[in-house]
Amino acid sequence: MTHVLHIDTSPRLDRSHSRLLAREFLEQWKTNHPNATITHRDLARQPIPYINDTWVSAKFTSADQYTPELAAAIALSDELIDEFLSADRYVLSTPMYNFGIPAVLKSYIDYIVRPKRTFAATEAGFKGLVTNKKMVLVQTRGSDFRPGSVYDAVNFQEPYLKTVFGFIGITDIEAIAANGLNTHLREQELATAQTALQRLSATW
Ligand SMILES: Cc1cc2nc3c(=O)[nH]c(=O)nc-3n(C[C@H](O)[C@H](O)[C@H](O)COP(=O)(O)O)c2cc1C
Repeated sequence: MTHVLHIDTSPRLDRSHSRLLAREFLEQWKTNHPNATITHRDLARQPIPYINDTWVSAKFTSADQYTPELAAAIALSDELIDEFLSADRYVLSTPMYNFGIPAVLKSYIDYIVRPKRTFAATEAGFKGLVTNKKMVLVQTRGSDFRPGSVYDAVNFQEPYLKTVFGFIGITDIEAIAANGLNTHLREQELATAQTALQRLSATW
């Protein structure tokens, strides 16, 4: 049975476009996959703390060498990774913040990108361990970052997310974006993203 991890990140709750687009996508997708299960992780309602000195020590210590302090520091990371690995598919919604991603999402990524758990350092280089999965990225932006636009070159949201999730092994990523939501493009871009997501929900 397919299991989806649905991750929302916008601190805006009822007014969030990224949350709404992802929710609509999953509602449509669920009609074709009635037996699928979905876990919802809301990084705005349940923020992940920033990593600290003890956490970094734990990250680079083998589990059989943990002191109680190191074990406690890394426990949430293990819990989030267990949840992440138990999913077959991911639906991640996120606004663009300051050309990149919201801090809560960056913090979450710091917690789940871990050696031996989600990637391995081999003699041949780094190897992602999260394989045979797929992801839909639902992105919103206040300004126009469409391909070919003036700001396209400084979009560090989608390239970063594809890079970091690719690094841990997730290479099947469908990225949908609604641009210019604080401009005259808003209605047109929301409609375009909704249509793209609706189409994707039938085939994903
Ligand atoms: C702190 C902050 C930073 C933002 N930075 C950008 C940005 O760099 N580029 C952009 O296009 N929009 C930026 N925006 C606008 C949001 O991306 C836009 O309003 C988006 O629709 C928010 O998503 P949401 O509706 O899911 O909350 C920013 C908004 C906030 C609050």
